Amino acid sequence: MKKETIQPARYLHGALELPGDKSVSHRYAMLAGLAEGTSELRHFSAAADCHSTLDCMSALGAEVKVEKDTVRITGRGARGLKSSRRALDAGNSGTTMRLLAGILAGQSFSSRLTGDDSLQKRPMKRVILPLREMGADIHGRDDNFAPLEICGTKLKPIDYQMPMASAQVKSAVLLAGLFADGVTSVTEPARTRDHTELALEEFGASVDKNGQTIRVRGLGGGNGSGSGKLTARSLDVPGDLSSAVFFLAAASLFPDSNVLIHNVGLNPTRTSILDVLAEMGASIQMLGLKSSQGEIIGDLAMKGASLKGGVIAGSRIPLVIDELPMLAALGPFTEEGVEIRDAGELRVKESDRIAALAENLRRMGAKVEERPDGLKVEGRHRGKLRGAEIDSRGDHRIAMAFAVAGLAAEGNTVIRDADCAGVSFPAFFAELHRLAER
Ligand code: S3P
Repeated sequence: MKKETIQPARYLHGALELPGDKSVSHRYAMLAGLAEGTSELRHFSAAADCHSTLDCMSALGAEVKVEKDTVRITGRGARGLKSSRRALDAGNSGTTMRLLAGILAGQSFSSRLTGDDSLQKRPMKRVILPLREMGADIHGRDDNFAPLEICGTKLKPIDYQMPMASAQVKSAVLLAGLFADGVTSVTEPARTRDHTELALEEFGASVDKNGQTIRVRGLGGGNGSGSGKLTARSLDVPGDLSSAVFFLAAASLFPDSNVLIHNVGLNPTRTSILDVLAEMGASIQMLGLKSSQGEIIGDLAMKGASLKGGVIAGSRIPLVIDELPMLAALGPFTEEGVEIRDAGELRVKESDRIAALAENLRRMGAKVEERPDGLKVEGRHRGKLRGAEIDSRGDHRIAMAFAVAGLAAEGNTVIRDADCAGVSFPAFFAELHRLAER
């Protein structure tokens, strides 16, 4: 396992472009595999997670050609996937497993869906239950964990009141809804990222949204009850804002920083992190906004700023869920510290992120109170952080968050199992070293 040493920096300077958005890439890859014809997906994510999705779609019969960051997928049509002889491997990717479960539930063949050690510990009951309501035959270990055994069958539409705010659960039900006769709806208790709805529309499905309820019409069998098919598309994937956040945070640590990030996805269900940072006093400008296939893309310019800190809680949590590790790790550099509440979900991500944050922040000398649903990190009055050896727990966002914190600590920080950053951002350390002035 590779260790990465982070030396203190004086400031961050320069421009960069991020890999394509992970959430959008997963969805485009799956829908392209269900569409008729060849889709061209440009600036597709370099993340290992999205390549797990490509491998699964290819095992299911889609033709997948990868050339640098352009992916061409020739779909087999909504009814044309075939069973895979081997188990489908979602790797470390919860999105791959949960969304694919929705698609596989409605096929005419059986599938086995598995993943790495971390993914086999993450809860799947949240998709098993609604899919069963739709008639799916789906089982997991202890009825909750991968490997999942899915025996495809005819599905019926449901109106699902989602008990948790999860884009993955919403998406699993909507994708299964493509294979149900009639209209399936999902009502979310709080807003979550809406890339599935946008992508479904883009590929030609009939979707509508009313308040917090999203409806999708089943594709039907071409008998007029549904649009019948999805159509191949030529699409550009926006840069990944969740990856951009590590550079925004790093820039914020030093008054002399100046960073420009090109072509970032600025979908309003993802930009709450920019509001949080701005409320804390960050200086971020959005430039050259344009709309692209329902998604919004723009550049972000960030200068150093002294951050105030604050409390992040309530309905905002699902909208910044992936950015919470970075916000917590910024806590010791802020005036008032950072407190995160209502975020018990962090315990069932790629690692128990609350425990991982508390442990590693303490290793660096921060004062942290760990709670069941979050944590409270004291601000800079507690003194400067010192470099330490960080246990990333194989979790990409923990590794990257502490690499950023290490830039402003005293002495060197060593990130254990640093390669895990490749799960979302393979070039992360190279880019961080390139922009950090020492
Ligand atoms: C994702 C949804 C979120 C997020 C994950 C990606 C998606 O998970 O944490 O990294 O692409 O739908 P939940 O839906 O479980 O909150």
